[in-house]
Amino acid sequence: MDKVFFEKCVKQFDIRGSIVSIAAYGKGHINDTFLVRTIDNGTITKYIMQRVNSGVFKKPEQVISNIEKVTAFLKVRAGSEREVLSLIPTNDGKTFIKDSTGDVWRMYDFIDDSICLDIVENENDFYECAFAFGKFQRDLRDFPADTLYETIPNFHNTPVRFGAFLSAVAADKCGRAETVKKEIKFITERQDFYSVLIDAEKKGELPLRVTHNDTKSNNVMLDYKTRKALCVIDLDTVMPGYSVTDFGDAIRFGASTAAEDERDLDKVHFSIDLFKAYTKGYMAGCDGKLKDTEIMLLPEGAKMMTIECGMRFLADYLSGDTYFKINYHDHNLVRARAQLKLVSEMEEKWEEMKKVVKEYC
Ligand SMILES: Nc1ncnc2c1ncn2[C@@H]1O[C@H](COP(=O)(O)OP(=O)(O)O)[C@@H](O)[C@H]1O
Ligand SMILES: [Mg+2]
Repeated sequence: MDKVFFEKCVKQFDIRGSIVSIAAYGKGHINDTFLVRTIDNGTITKYIMQRVNSGVFKKPEQVISNIEKVTAFLKVRAGSEREVLSLIPTNDGKTFIKDSTGDVWRMYDFIDDSICLDIVENENDFYECAFAFGKFQRDLRDFPADTLYETIPNFHNTPVRFGAFLSAVAADKCGRAETVKKEIKFITERQDFYSVLIDAEKKGELPLRVTHNDTKSNNVMLDYKTRKALCVIDLDTVMPGYSVTDFGDAIRFGASTAAEDERDLDKVHFSIDLFKAYTKGYMAGCDGKLKDTEIMLLPEGAKMMTIECGMRFLADYLSGDTYFKINYHDHNLVRARAQLKLVSEMEEKWEEMKKVVKEYC
């Protein structure tokens, strides 16, 4: 690590005291995260400094602008400073710096005595994560979502994703389509479903909201001792969208009994108990602030995110694995099959899912 380079970055932020250490931190997959410790009159202060991944985020200034607006709004509503990410300003009053290579860096207050979980260990953890994302939605309900940049256009526009899937099937670059006919049929047979959320928005049933778009458990900080939700982090993909897709992606990932790339489909199940736990936590966090029509579309959100993800994995498999990183030749196919298995189980448990959410209308 180039100490001089990193110290130069740190010193451009308005930090307390002098630098004690700068070290790589956490298990994030997207950005480069560092823990910075400073000392002032014997008091140690910790900060998180991050280099924004310029490969993923082509317009990092827009990403940070979204974060700045959302965190400023949340701060006014937060009960304590551990409940919201807090950007540290630069010495010239900005919210990020650019280093000599053009990369963008930002700094946050460190959230003390907290943990985040790569895998939820029980229903209670899942409930707490759901609570945090629900509260995020509640606190941002009056935020004008359309003032945020759409930093990844059409991110959850399923009809657009389906169009890209059909193009990948038609192009069949690697001659693989013949071997996955069953999966292609599964996805194409459900094409009428893909516009359900967009149609609901047009009918006024689904409001445009601030969405997080990476609602995994490791993006929620829990209190180290109580294991209660503190705050949502990793706001890079905050954008205008639907609450039900944030909810849905958390279910897609978290209510499965197996890893995203489990090859043995007998192990891949959609857990209705985890769905219930998440719904309960999410609705408690939202605290009655979602519309009834929106609540009734939560199961659609879960199914939409799961099938959308399945078609993206399969499209990438057909196109020669250019987007998702793979560890073996049919990794994307394995992933796609697991998603489709979850979709078929959601369909089997559809009435039960609807019943669970109906309680909250
Ligand atoms: N403000 C913070 N306070 C304490 N830990 C943090 C903070 N922000 C991030 N982290 C830690 O750094 C890790 C990576 O941060 P994150 O913003 O999620 O990056 P990535 O986009 O790479 O996932 C988190 O999983 C968490 O452990
Ligand atoms: Mg993260």
